[in-house]
Amino acid sequence: MAFIRNRKLLIVTIVAVLLLLTQLDLDNFVSIFDVTKHIYSLNFLSRQTKPVICVLVLACNRPSVKRCLDSVFKYRVLTPSVNFPVIVSQDCGSHPETTQVIKSYGDKILHIHQPDLSAIITDGTTKQGYYKQARHHAWALKQAFYEFKCPNVIVLEDDLEVAPDFFEYFAATLPLYLQDTSILCVTASNLQAKPGIVNMSAINLLHRTDFFFGWGWMISKKVFKSLGSWPKVYWDVWLGLPDERQGRSCIRPEIPRTKNFGRDGTSGHKFFDDLVQDLVVSKDFIPFTTLNLSYLLRDNYNRRLSQQVSESKLITNLPGFELGLSSNKYKEGLSFHVLYHDPLEFRLLTKYFRLYGKTWNGIAHSMYRGIMTFIHRGRRIYLVPNGEWKGYDTDVDLHI
Ligand SMILES: *[C@@H]1O[C@H](CO)[C@@H](O)[C@H](O)[C@H]1NC(C)=O
Ligand SMILES: *[C@@H]1O[C@H](CO)[C@@H](O)[C@H](O)[C@H]1NC(C)=O
Repeated sequence: MAFIRNRKLLIVTIVAVLLLLTQLDLDNFVSIFDVTKHIYSLNFLSRQTKPVICVLVLACNRPSVKRCLDSVFKYRVLTPSVNFPVIVSQDCGSHPETTQVIKSYGDKILHIHQPDLSAIITDGTTKQGYYKQARHHAWALKQAFYEFKCPNVIVLEDDLEVAPDFFEYFAATLPLYLQDTSILCVTASNLQAKPGIVNMSAINLLHRTDFFFGWGWMISKKVFKSLGSWPKVYWDVWLGLPDERQGRSCIRPEIPRTKNFGRDGTSGHKFFDDLVQDLVVSKDFIPFTTLNLSYLLRDNYNRRLSQQVSESKLITNLPGFELGLSSNKYKEGLSFHVLYHDPLEFRLLTKYFRLYGKTWNGIAHSMYRGIMTFIHRGRRIYLVPNGEWKGYDTDVDLHI
């Protein structure tokens, strides 16, 4: 009798497992197994019900990666609906102090090493560091997607601290990302986010942007596979090239969800002191997964944005506009737009409004279909291309 019962049990188990297998994407099935085997040693079948986003932390020779990892582990638990295994990829050899910090997290992370430490022949003017960053990103992303079979990856660097709802933000945007093929990435950063230029009350507001920018960003395996072969240098600028971007946009927050504390990075002190250190970061926990974010899907977003622009008041005379603001001529809640006719006029307007207006491949930070939105003296403003939108002029970058 016991034998028969066991046999029945065995058959029931086999049928159950087969049924489960047919429900799963085989690619994901293998992936989560691999990752959890390495990191959690947990029962992988019970984990199948949750989506997986691997967190890939790129480290080098800075022990301050501890600040990054501590924030990751502090806030990851606040979003249990998604499985976020952490992989730390270390470049620059086994810098002892940094290695020790990474090892101190034990089984909580998977620690891998970028093997190619050879010097890189540069073009003579570009810093070696930018080449090494490109090499490390390419290697580590391939490891995450192909070796560990991550279906989605968030890339962090060792000088980034994450905000309380960082994981919640990615958990909530993942379904949109997987649904809307016009989304290239989801990024946690916003280089325009200086005090006074973003709306500090709009803590749950998200946007689309055509500009690719990292500092905590998510990419799916599918999108990764859609890209050409990784460049030797300036991988982030490369991602904004027409052939890679293919008309796709990224989701970005109004208020950043990462804080860059790396004054000693490759970009140098000036960039950090002039821009990065003033950037704001969200301190709140927005339960993004409970919000309706469908306004970010391409057609909804385009409709909503053109409505917002057309409902805003046209500014034709900047001094007159400033006077109007000072004399309370404009009602509370009124928004405005300024038309520009060419890249030079756009650049001058960004200087006037103290925005970060440099462009790469014709696209400025936070720009969407040529439109840049920000806050000026408490009012929402849109810089809008004049006439019908015809796409970016990728050959014109005014670094003035
Ligand atoms: C800032 O955001 C708050 C909250 O969403 C909103 O009520 C307010 O109108 C916004 N202010 C501007 C100037 O857009
Ligand atoms: C979510 O918002 C969209 C508009 O962006 C709306 O059409 C839809 O009905 C909303 N869904 C729910 C469940 O409220």
